[in-house]
Amino acid sequence: MPVHGLTPILLVLVPMWTIVTPVASHPQHSRCQLIQRTALCNDGRLSSVPVGLPDNIEELQLNYNQIETLQDSALLHYPSLNALSLACNRLVKLERNTFQDSKLLKSLNLANNDLRIGYQESSLALKKLHGLTALDLSENKLEDEMAATLLENLTSLEYLNLSGNLLQRVDEASFKDLHQLKELDLQRNIMFEIDGAFDGNSKLQRLNLAFNYLPCLTDFHMTQLVVLNASHNIIEWFISRQDLNDTFQLETLDLSNNKLLFFPFLPSHSRLRNLYLSHNVISFYEQMARNVTSPNSSTTVEFYNLKNYMENVTAQLWDDDLHGDTSSLEILDLRGNQVDYFPQGFIQKMPALSRLQMCTNCLETLNLTSEQFTGSLYELDLSNNRLKQVLADEAALTALSNLTYFNLSLNGLERLPAGLFSSLPSIRSVDLSYNNIDVCLSEEAELTTHTVSSCADWKNIASLRQLYLKGCNLKRIPDSAFTGLLLTHLELSDNPGLNAQESIQSLSRTLQHLGVGNTHMHGFDFSHLQSLKSLNISKNSLAHLPPSLLSLDLKVLDLRDNRLPTIHSAHAAALAPKLHTVFLTGNPFNCCQTEWFRIFETTKTINMFGQSEIECEDLFRTTHSVARSEFFSCDEEGGESVFWYILLLVPMCVSFLGVSLIVSLTFKPTMLQKSIKKKCLRPTSY
Ligand SMILES: *[C@@H]1O[C@H](CO)[C@@H](O)[C@H](O)[C@H]1NC(C)=O
Ligand SMILES: *[C@@H]1O[C@H](CO)[C@@H](O)[C@H](O)[C@H]1NC(C)=O
Ligand SMILES: *[C@@H]1O[C@H](CO)[C@@H](O)[C@H](O)[C@H]1NC(C)=O
Ligand SMILES: *[C@@H]1O[C@H](CO)[C@@H](O)[C@H](O)[C@H]1NC(C)=O
Ligand SMILES: *[C@@H]1O[C@H](CO)[C@@H](O)[C@H](O)[C@H]1NC(C)=O
Ligand SMILES: *[C@@H]1O[C@H](CO)[C@@H](O)[C@H](O)[C@H]1NC(C)=O
Ligand SMILES: *[C@@H]1O[C@H](CO)[C@@H](O)[C@H](O)[C@H]1NC(C)=O
Ligand SMILES: *[C@@H]1O[C@H](CO)[C@@H](O)[C@H](O)[C@H]1NC(C)=O
Ligand SMILES: *[C@@H]1O[C@H](CO)[C@@H](O)[C@H](O)[C@H]1NC(C)=O
Ligand SMILES: *[C@@H]1O[C@H](CO)[C@@H](O)[C@H](O)[C@H]1NC(C)=O
Ligand SMILES: *[C@@H]1O[C@H](CO)[C@@H](O)[C@H](O)[C@H]1NC(C)=O
Repeated sequence: MPVHGLTPILLVLVPMWTIVTPVASHPQHSRCQLIQRTALCNDGRLSSVPVGLPDNIEELQLNYNQIETLQDSALLHYPSLNALSLACNRLVKLERNTFQDSKLLKSLNLANNDLRIGYQESSLALKKLHGLTALDLSENKLEDEMAATLLENLTSLEYLNLSGNLLQRVDEASFKDLHQLKELDLQRNIMFEIDGAFDGNSKLQRLNLAFNYLPCLTDFHMTQLVVLNASHNIIEWFISRQDLNDTFQLETLDLSNNKLLFFPFLPSHSRLRNLYLSHNVISFYEQMARNVTSPNSSTTVEFYNLKNYMENVTAQLWDDDLHGDTSSLEILDLRGNQVDYFPQGFIQKMPALSRLQMCTNCLETLNLTSEQFTGSLYELDLSNNRLKQVLADEAALTALSNLTYFNLSLNGLERLPAGLFSSLPSIRSVDLSYNNIDVCLSEEAELTTHTVSSCADWKNIASLRQLYLKGCNLKRIPDSAFTGLLLTHLELSDNPGLNAQESIQSLSRTLQHLGVGNTHMHGFDFSHLQSLKSLNISKNSLAHLPPSLLSLDLKVLDLRDNRLPTIHSAHAAALAPKLHTVFLTGNPFNCCQTEWFRIFETTKTINMFGQSEIECEDLFRTTHSVARSEFFSCDEEGGESVFWYILLLVPMCVSFLGVSLIVSLTFKPTMLQKSIKKKCLRPTSY
């Protein structure tokens, strides 16, 4: 028997063996893949550099192997190499002559190794690389001293990655030889101080300091820098050197996720285009300072560093005029700050501003007339502030000729300039959700002679495509409210009791997404919305699927939190081939009528969102996951269940047992005794 069992396994092993043998005899080479002059030997459990590759290879990738030392002789065979990648090995050192003959090596990736151990000898090896332009030393647990040693004499380096190490403090000695450096990544270290560290790197253009512990960046004077990323630190101050006449090349400055209290003190001449300041505590103080009569209120800040050298950085703290040169600014991201007003002239100084993101601040009012936004404004996000009203005159609105995306949601808006949206020639998307703004009755809109209005008029705004009016407490939308619109997206959810059936008719040709979740809608006829692709009718207490849906070509359907006991299998079969995503949780489905589920489940093109959380109730009112049908069973006809069989079977079994007991008692009394003896007296010895 065991012989028979082994035979098939042996048969399988023999061909395997013939494949494995050549690999074992030349292990290194055969684990590599050659593509022209590139050898890919990644993920091969190699413990040394393979020998026997063609000697003219130019690129060698050895990532994800187990190499611990790069030996002196390792690269002798490959003198043409210009790129070597050893990321994610166990490298502790590079022997000092390993690059003796690698004259052409330009790019070296040593990311994710253990070079902290043998950094001294490794630095001798690196010194031989006179043409090295790119070096990745990320994730090597390097400390300040080690990094400085490894970088000595690398005068030709242009790209250096030191992210994910243990650097704490960099100063003028750290990168002193890197005269050609253009890009430096220092993110995810534990740096708390930078002291003149980049003064020798006059060509540095991109610097990433994200995810460190820097408390401030003062006396910023790197005029050649193009991108500075200092996000995710604990920066309270950003102050650039103010007395420089040169134009800073800075285009992108990321100071998001810090602790800035003041708007950064930007260079007085710059090309800054993208300024990311989200998630700080920025506010403007001029209004407050004006009231302060105390002579004590300081106008200067002093900064100290570890060497106890004190810098007297003077910033006119209370003067909102001195924000520097913002004339080229295109993106200003101020999300999640504490801005309650814009200082006078603040916006005016940004004639190129295209996106202003002010979501989650404390703005109380906005006067578009006095701010003087220009025609370049494309996106204005004022959501989640405390706006009670927005002010604007006709001229200010028509000036916003490019405004396309306007988000005013989550404010307490009660008033808007009359005709606000119809005056914006390019407006495409408006979000007014969660405000107290009504939709104007036609008479209201026409009769309004006031400049402000408590309702918004939507008629005939030809460019508008997306309109969000969630949670506005809307009860009735006039039948003609949307005439002349070419909306593709209409969101009316969270307006309980809303009646919008008639008004939506006029959008039947264009509407692709309709949200009427939580509106208590019922009897809605969707059949005329022939372009509809996505429909949200969640939270509407629906007891059956509206049949008018079936003729539509729906891709997304949200039916969550209704009262559906089942979906007719013919309906499911009609929807299944069209839908891409369906949301069904939160319905009291009947476990015994789940054929719809099998239909959806077997349709491979459909994604049932939260499939395992779709539940049903069986006859005992126990909830099950519909997907795990093995735990409940139902009668074929549906409706009835094993319950009734159990009810019938139990008395039958009980009476059968009773009868047999009586029979055995009357006819075989001795047998009973025996069985009692056998069962109860067994422990006593025989
Ligand atoms: C490395 O640079 C130092 C000065 O920074 C110099 O004295 C030394 O000769 C250089 N070594 C090599 C190998 O180039
Ligand atoms: C630096 O290395 C890290 C980790 O290896 C990587 O995520 C990052 O993208 C690299 N930086 C650049 C600028 O290539
Ligand atoms: C700054 O760096 C962080 C972390 O790497 C990154 O998420 C962010 O996108 C960067 N910012 C910019 C403007 O590239
Ligand atoms: C900047 O220019 C002003 C006048 O144009 C001059 O007085 C000042 O010395 C210059 N500053 C520097 C640092 O060159
Ligand atoms: C400053 O004074 C003005 C008028 O006196 C007042 O309206 C305003 O609320 C005050 N601002 C602060 C921050 O105290
Ligand atoms: C000004 O500062 C001094 C000393 O710090 C203090 O005694 C005084 O009360 C301050 N005055 C005001 C108006 O805050
Ligand atoms: C810093 O500036 C202030 C005000 O101009 C001055 O009183 C102080 O002495 C200066 N400190 C140093 C160290 O220069
Ligand atoms: C809005 O700004 C304009 C121009 O500065 C001004 O004339 C108007 O009075 C302001 N409106 C309000 C209500 O402050
Ligand atoms: C309007 O926006 C578009 C797209 O962002 C842009 O290409 C165009 O230059 C802008 N127009 C003006 C006047 O700024
Ligand atoms: C408007 O802003 C809110 C809050 O920031 C956000 O949830 C919503 O998605 C935005 N609207 C649009 C249409 O992007
Ligand atoms: C449908 O509308 C409800 C109610 O506003 C909302 O909670 C839900 O997220 C919406 N569904 C989708 C898929 O966006």
